[in-house]
Formats: sequence, C-alpha cells, structure tokens
Amino acid sequence: MNSRVTKVVVPAAGMGTRFLPATKALPKEMLPVVDKPTIQYVIEEAVVAGLTNVLMITGRNKNALENHFDRAWELETTLLSKGEIAKLEKVTKSTNLAEIHYLRQGDPRGLGHAVAKARAHVGEHPFALLLGDIITEPVGRLLTTMIDVAEQRGGTVIALAEVNRNDVSAYGIALVEETTEEGIVRIRHLVEKPAPEEAPSRLAIIGRYILVPEIFDLLDETEPGKGNEIQLTDALNVLAEDETIGGPVWGVILDGDWYDTGDKLAYLKAVVSIASRRDDLGEEFRAWLGDFVGTDPS
Ligand code: G1P
Repeated sequence: MNSRVTKVVVPAAGMGTRFLPATKALPKEMLPVVDKPTIQYVIEEAVVAGLTNVLMITGRNKNALENHFDRAWELETTLLSKGEIAKLEKVTKSTNLAEIHYLRQGDPRGLGHAVAKARAHVGEHPFALLLGDIITEPVGRLLTTMIDVAEQRGGTVIALAEVNRNDVSAYGIALVEETTEEGIVRIRHLVEKPAPEEAPSRLAIIGRYILVPEIFDLLDETEPGKGNEIQLTDALNVLAEDETIGGPVWGVILDGDWYDTGDKLAYLKAVVSIASRRDDLGEEFRAWLGDFVGTDPS
C-alpha cells in the first residue's frame, strides 16, 4: 500500500442550523472571516501542507461553494478592464488554489456517511479529512505534522485540543496514553459528544484527520449513533480499540489556535483574532478594540 497522503476530503454538506437565519440560503462554509469564506481558509491549509487534490462533499443549496472556486468571467473582465489588479488577484486566487472535485452527499445521514461517499475517489490510500467549517492557525502547521506522523508511524492520526469540561458534549472526546514524543499520544477510546460526567478526558477532536482506507469498511458497518446519524467517531473507535484492523490511532495535540466557525462565539473569536493580525487592518482594529473593551456596550 502506498502510504503517501495526497488526497483531501472536505465534507461541507451540513445544514448549519446553529447559524440561522444567515445559513438559510448561504452555506455555512461561505460565512466570511473578515473578507474570505471559511472554506477558502480550509483549502489553503491543505495546499500549504502540500495537498492539492480535494474532494468536497456538498449537498443541496451548496452551489455557492462551487461558484467560489470557479472562474468568475464577468467580474474578472470588469476588474481587468479597470486595471484593478489587486482585486482581480483576490478573485482568481481561489480558482487556482487546488484541483477540486465535488460530490453530493444525497441523504443527510451524518459525517460518517459523508466520508463514506469518498471511497471511490480516495481508493486504497491514506487520506486527509478536513472539516469545512474549522480554521486552524498557523496555517498548515498542524496538518503538516499530522501527515509526518502518519507517514512515519503508520495508522490513523487525529488532531486533538483541550476544551472546557462544559464543552465536551459538542465534540468527539478521546481517551489517550502518552508516548515518548511530546505532543503525540496514543488514542485508546473515542466517544462522540459525551455528557461531561461521562467524558473520558477533555481532549476534543477538532476536525482534522489522516484516515486509513480501512475506515470505509468500518463506516459501512457503523449503525446510526448520536443524533441518529452515522458517526465517524464510532468507526474510529473500532480502530482505536483494535489496532490489528488498520494500525494504531495517534493523536496530535494542537500547538496553535483553532476556530469552530459553526459556533457563534468561536466564529466571533476567529473574526477578531484574524482581523487583529492582518497587515491591512490589524493596527487600527486593535486600537479600536482596546477602547471598545473598556466601554459599556449596553
Ligand atoms: C464533528 C465530529 C466531532 C468533532 C467535531 C469537530 O461534529 O463528529 O467528533 O469533534 O466535528 O468540530 P459536528 O461539529 O459536525 O457536530
């Protein structure tokens, strides 16, 4: 089996109900963080880590995603004729980023079901899975580390970050053992969205995975779990509990920031923190923010 990771799967079919009414007609992955849709941050992350073959799993009402990565002739011609080259580059950047393939999920039966749809595209190789509404920073560092771990150690790799005890029920949570390498753990058990009193730790799955192709057979056998959906975490738990199936399951602890832009508070944090670091906006925005924080917003 070729152990090099070359393909990325990006599920972007979820309905985004946490962000209604904004997501009534707009895919949640198109919500802008400053001036760029979340999905473009995700694709840029893959590209920085050296992965340019992308399969996006979409669904109904997700046409804006395909349009965003396609040419926009009228806009390009207009900007070119006006000599607005900097703006033109912003338009064409997303088009030239990666080779993106699209597949619709069909039935909305959960993340595990969306991932299972990627089987024919991925084939018998390990691949990266990047959830389309999560941003990690610095761009590409986490994914690059994860690919290295997968290529050196074999098996599955899942990115983890510590969350507050009250937040564990929003994530897949891992029971881990230390390894001799700092920042890398061995995952022994996974549970999807546990109640705080049942969580085996506070280490949450943050939407970045390197998966082995054995995951597809497991997903086919996975019964609906939490929320009556086919849960990727349940299939991964089978791998974690029996390493003879597809090798060990490693955890890489995030050394950086992550934002779940499907969550309102995390989305606001992403906008503020990314805007604060922008060359064109940061200085003025930080100065305003400093004053604003001291005021009474009521
Ligand atoms: C999914 C996964 C969950 C993971 C989370 C990260 O849940 O099922 O294990 O922790 O993404 O955001 P979702 O957010 O789609 O409900």
